[in-house]
Amino acid sequence: PPARSDRPAAHVPSMDAYRSMYRESVEDPDRFWGRIAAREFSWETPFILPGDAAASASAIASKPDAESHANGNATTAAAAAAAPAAADPTKVTSQQSNFDVRTGPVAIKWFESSRTNLAYNCLDRNVHERGLGDNVAFFWEGNNPEQASKLTYRQLLDRVSRFANVLKSFGVAKGDTVGVYMPMVVELPIAMLACARIGAIHSVMFGGFSHEAIAGRILDAKCKVIVTADGVFRGEKVIPLKHIMNKAIEHCAEQGFAVTATIVLAHLGNLPEEEKRSLDRDWLKLEAEASPDCPVEWLEAEHPLFMLYTSGSTGRPKGVVHTQAGYMVWAATTFKYVFDYHPGDVYWCTADCGWITGHSYVTYGPLLNGATSVLFEGIPTYPDAGRCWQVIDKYQVTQFYTAPTAIRALMKFGDEIVARSSRASLRILGTVGEPINPAAWLWYFNVVGEGRCPIVDTWWQTETGGFMITPFPAATPCKPGSATLPFFGVVPALIDSQGREVEGEGEGSLVIKQSWPGQMRTVFGDHKRFEETYFSQHKGYYFSGDGCRRDEDGYYWITGRIDDVLMVSGHRIGTAEVEGALVGHEGVVEAAVVGYPHDIKGEGIYAFVTLAEGFKFTPELVQHLKLDVRENIGAFASVDIFHEAPALPKTRSGKIMRRILRKIAAGETDIHSFGDTSTLADPNVVEMLISTRPGH
Ligand code: WTA
Repeated sequence: PPARSDRPAAHVPSMDAYRSMYRESVEDPDRFWGRIAAREFSWETPFILPGDAAASASAIASKPDAESHANGNATTAAAAAAAPAAADPTKVTSQQSNFDVRTGPVAIKWFESSRTNLAYNCLDRNVHERGLGDNVAFFWEGNNPEQASKLTYRQLLDRVSRFANVLKSFGVAKGDTVGVYMPMVVELPIAMLACARIGAIHSVMFGGFSHEAIAGRILDAKCKVIVTADGVFRGEKVIPLKHIMNKAIEHCAEQGFAVTATIVLAHLGNLPEEEKRSLDRDWLKLEAEASPDCPVEWLEAEHPLFMLYTSGSTGRPKGVVHTQAGYMVWAATTFKYVFDYHPGDVYWCTADCGWITGHSYVTYGPLLNGATSVLFEGIPTYPDAGRCWQVIDKYQVTQFYTAPTAIRALMKFGDEIVARSSRASLRILGTVGEPINPAAWLWYFNVVGEGRCPIVDTWWQTETGGFMITPFPAATPCKPGSATLPFFGVVPALIDSQGREVEGEGEGSLVIKQSWPGQMRTVFGDHKRFEETYFSQHKGYYFSGDGCRRDEDGYYWITGRIDDVLMVSGHRIGTAEVEGALVGHEGVVEAAVVGYPHDIKGEGIYAFVTLAEGFKFTPELVQHLKLDVRENIGAFASVDIFHEAPALPKTRSGKIMRRILRKIAAGETDIHSFGDTSTLADPNVVEMLISTRPGH
């Protein structure tokens, strides 16, 4: 792309620069990450690089006296020098962070023995050390285009400090969990940061989850204090968050768990009497009465920051745990390099904070960089399909980050609606969530970006904390549909069906060979499940669950999940969860759920259901089943196609052959293309299902 004269040079200006930084990052991670950690973050105690006293002297370190930060005292190297010297040089990583369950527990640790605070780095550091207090942190754009507001870093620090004091007044202390169920308003990142400031652990629950899904999460993490809002408009639809939360809390009470307080933001401002509860407290009133002085809680590097539930192949969603320092360094560094962030940029990520993208690239990554972001409450098609392009012009957005499903949905409305906007401010476009098909990639590149904005197709996961495989916008030549090359410190590998590493070109199961700072540390309350899920498939590797191809240039092409996880409109859904909801209905004896190719959603949900004696496959029954899934998970997990299956294809040992169901769902009719069917107990079942496929 033509360089703009008014912009500083890119952080990674060329492939040579990328290659040399990459080499150091994987060969000497301690040095590489130690240097970044020391230069670009604040630590309570001086951060000492391994075996490098000179570099340590330039480390930005802060006073151990927490009180002084609240009063706005800048931290200086001199202050750091006055601090008691750390006994041991800070260990950046146990480079040998063990990935091999056969040789001991998987214990991932980074920046051990140093203390920091992520909220301090997002706020106090920017306000008091970097002079960014008057910069806008968030431009908030409402669902209604007439509603907008902005918040500077100084205002954000003030509100976060007050809200942290509010949390404390409800007894929330270091290590406690807080449930957050909020719309996309500035109070959502405020709640997250307030938790981080005092060392509480936030569990943000996506606003689209049903009361049952929320109850499960509150119970698992024992969140006594809940932060929520009355409701929110998404497009024309109102989502009654408080109503849903009330039901969730009742559900928890039935299970013997008592929530002790609900802090409710009056966002719509018209909560009906019948939705009010005695535990409710008015957010804005409490915040106004609270003190703006809230000392930072200095936390061990490995102190948990948040948990975020995510779906896997089996069982209930897992609480993925990320910790303070490693996640901080990862979210910030990936943001800086991949969006090539420079002062003056205006960045916009359309993701919801209820998902990992909203954690790393709406809240933490941008704020750690002192960036200015757009925080969007609405949806891309309201009031019309030109909304994104209008918002880009309104705020002069330079980096725009969204999901393939949104791109495909907007593409359907044609080029003319895009052409009504200027989009001249755009420099970089990003995508995440699922493989992007080349047609959508090209439309994004040619029509939205008018051929001048590189596209960063970022592959990563809730578990990875941030980008893993991604282009660097000024360096990496792109290929439509490929996430290209690994980020610093990431060593990917492909494992073939024999369990061997694929050399050079080839395809296999995507794994990661060594630890990176943003890696998840555990499954909340279940470390064994962490080891089983991610480190038992291929011994010595982190298992991603994705299939992947490597081409002749070493580029990675993600082919999609190889486990029983669906990516529906970029939302991650476990087939087991949907099946669980379906078999909960008395009329269903068995259900098998698979994904099938869907034009807009990427993957649609296809359910084979076997009915109990006496039940008929009527539209009413299907309606009931749809509702059950909604109630169990949320509307985003809605089943697209129901298929009555008097029997399911099974092996002789009774295992459902999902591989075959996927073929049927995809509309394939030639049984010879189904692969090996010799293990089927009853081959006739397949023919029967092919001929009864809805729409066949
Ligand atoms: C998929 C979302 C292809 C992948 C950040 C992964 C992608 C899952 C891409 C994680 C991409 C994410 N290309 N596939 N650029 N980005 N995925 O945990 O299957 O919600 O395993 O995190 O999304 O979903 P999660």
